[in-house]
Amino acid sequence: MSDFSVVILAAGQGTRMKSDLPKVLHPLTGKAMLRYIIETAQQLKPQHIYVVIGHQAEFIQQQLSDVDVTWIQQREQLGTGHAVMQVLPHLQNEQRLLILLGDTPLITVATLQHLLVITGEEESGLLTVQRDNPAGLGRIIRDEKQNLCAIVEEKEASPAQKNIKEINTGIMVLPVRHLRRWLPALKQNNSQQEYYLTDIISMAVNEGIQFRSAQPQEDIEVGSVNDRKQLAQLEREKQKQYAISLMEQGVTLLDPARLDIRGDVQIAADVTIDVNVILSGKVTIGKGSHIGPNVVIKDSIIGENTVIHSHCDIDGAQIGKDCQVGPFARLRPATTIADEGKIGNFVETKNISLGKASKANHLTYLGDATIGEHVNIGAGTITCNYDGVSKHHTEIEDGAFIGSNTALVAPVKIGENATIAAGSTITKEAPAGQLTVARARQVSLTWERPQKTIK
Ligand code: UD1
Ligand code: CA
Repeated sequence: MSDFSVVILAAGQGTRMKSDLPKVLHPLTGKAMLRYIIETAQQLKPQHIYVVIGHQAEFIQQQLSDVDVTWIQQREQLGTGHAVMQVLPHLQNEQRLLILLGDTPLITVATLQHLLVITGEEESGLLTVQRDNPAGLGRIIRDEKQNLCAIVEEKEASPAQKNIKEINTGIMVLPVRHLRRWLPALKQNNSQQEYYLTDIISMAVNEGIQFRSAQPQEDIEVGSVNDRKQLAQLEREKQKQYAISLMEQGVTLLDPARLDIRGDVQIAADVTIDVNVILSGKVTIGKGSHIGPNVVIKDSIIGENTVIHSHCDIDGAQIGKDCQVGPFARLRPATTIADEGKIGNFVETKNISLGKASKANHLTYLGDATIGEHVNIGAGTITCNYDGVSKHHTEIEDGAFIGSNTALVAPVKIGENATIAAGSTITKEAPAGQLTVARARQVSLTWERPQKTIK
């Protein structure tokens, strides 16, 4: 089965998307459709993966510069048959070619393997599916023995053919040496004046060569995206799949329709997720944790039995176990919170490590700081980390107590068990164990308040 290569057709503009972004770069669950399908193709371990691009080719290559594929240019988009023709010079006759479409991103490895297995080395195979509403898709024509004999595009279909529910998914596998005969014989004699790849089915049948057909395990796999309604539909269906698999793993979702996964998530059993939560990138959540409503978490690790209260935005954070975050907290990249830490409302953090059982409960900015264990940061504390040019570091040692409304002007260090009086502006090291007060002394004076003169 390893004697095959894959071609992914992705040169079209995607006119019906009405977008400046090429269709195949539109994201589905946070990932460009083309990246989805390339990753699936890679898992099949073919000899080679070719991607045919044309419309905004350079931009597509830039966006996917990290993937290992051979890009093939189709300068004019003259149809799917013409697109496949562009890879012929790269292929060997003994090979088979598996054709995938850039706008059909959810096809699975299992279904493609099945198609490859049921199609003999010398045969051709096509993936078809039954659709209640087949509008816009190529219809499958079978003879009285149920053998495949042609595909008729919607625009060419007779009223009777339009009633056929079995449609072409566009995914097929063919021996290269047959393609070399069939593709150059394609004609543009159709309503769109395109070289239809689908016309090769009847050519094969006329030569007495059988086409096998297979069906996907699930319909959603062959959902194609031509417009934004179909994109949204596929997004919802894929999200439903994610939600179901999380629930099967023991995660409680208060409403499976109001969770969005846009990346790779690992969520342990007995995690509860409230409504309107978005998890993107790589997110790990430990056993027994609770994610409140309206929370966005990106590229973060959350330990066990931690509570993220409502309305938090967490990006690039590592949070320990038994922590409390929010409501309304914003954790920015490189935030590390050790076990039993507490970050309260309207607290923003960036590039900090907060030691075990330390707290910043209200209205605070902590950036570029190393904070020890059992530290209490009072409301309104600000690490003044930026002088307009460079970022500077703040160090707060174990057991320190920072009074409310304190400005810590970095670089600065607060010693172990030091106490900072409320309202201080700290510009020098505050020694361990002592109370440091850095504010104007309070004075009370006897005076006469000016009076308004009455005319
Ligand atoms: C195609 C099939 C149709 C099938 C449907 C399944 C043809 C003629 N029709 O129709 O039978 O039911 O897919 O989704 O094959 N592309 C190129 N170069 C081109 C034209 C298209 O690379 O010159 C690429 C597009 O970028 C797209 C894919 O091929 O990713 C399919 O093209 P599209 O125009 O969407 O074909 P459909 O009309 O959907
Ligand atoms: Ca399409």
